[in-house]
Amino acid sequence: MLKIEKLKKIKSNFPVLVGSNVIPRSICKTLIKEINNSKSFDDMIMGGRSRINKGSKNFNNYIKKSKTSEKLFKIFNGKSFYKKIESIFKKNFKDGSWENSNLPKIFNQKKFTIKKKLNSSELQKMLGNNYSNPKVNLDIDFSVSKGGYRLRPHRDDITRLYNFLIYLTDIPKKNGGSLTIYKKKAKKNLRKSFRRFPKISELEIVKEFTPKQGTAVFFQSTPNSYHGVKRFIEKKCSKRFFIYGSYALNKPVIWKFNNIPYYPHIIKNKKKMLTSFHDANYLTIPTTN
Ligand SMILES: [Fe+2]
Repeated sequence: MLKIEKLKKIKSNFPVLVGSNVIPRSICKTLIKEINNSKSFDDMIMGGRSRINKGSKNFNNYIKKSKTSEKLFKIFNGKSFYKKIESIFKKNFKDGSWENSNLPKIFNQKKFTIKKKLNSSELQKMLGNNYSNPKVNLDIDFSVSKGGYRLRPHRDDITRLYNFLIYLTDIPKKNGGSLTIYKKKAKKNLRKSFRRFPKISELEIVKEFTPKQGTAVFFQSTPNSYHGVKRFIEKKCSKRFFIYGSYALNKPVIWKFNNIPYYPHIIKNKKKMLTSFHDANYLTIPTTN
């Protein structure tokens, strides 16, 4: 059902692996039908993306009645698939690459990142201040986007190790909705600090992926893993069906590059927001709470 043996690396500032036909077209079509048959979604974000999120009642109902989605979910939500992804990345990106300082030993099938709105001190409290001995879990959503969907350049949550996207529909290039990979323009003083939402003027486009049925993109969620989605124009084409997943720790990831550790610093904010809206900066200075 999932062919990940032929993932290929792309030229980028952070580890990215791509594969076409990771999911056969016939299965993509079944998955689209299942998502389309879902009467309810958990939320709508980013100007038009409806999600069914792991952890919600809605997700459990969806999985119960959607056999192909269930099968796929069970593969992703297991230690053996996680280990496979970990080893593929290790094999492809050997020396001089980003590393996670605290390798998780336990895979927690039941856990997921909560979709509750928190302010920065509540988020800090939830993540604790001991970042060693983490556990890993899968976060996943089945998504469909309508026209208007876009994502400004960002890096994902500080707890994330690997992220992946699986495209279920072909979207013509002129309709946008492409996944864009960025790199930070080289400025010495900026190389030591990695904001979550850098200014567009600080970034350069490295690569764009037009959604293609069955294509999967996996990337390591390193401090500089900047990515976004160009505005999707829904005109004479299908809606943008996709699966978004990630392997996340139950605590922040301390990344290392050339053995130099990078620590996350959550930016203080009184506003209650989803974890994915909170800003954090990766610095070589240890985190203090
Ligand atoms: Fe993201």
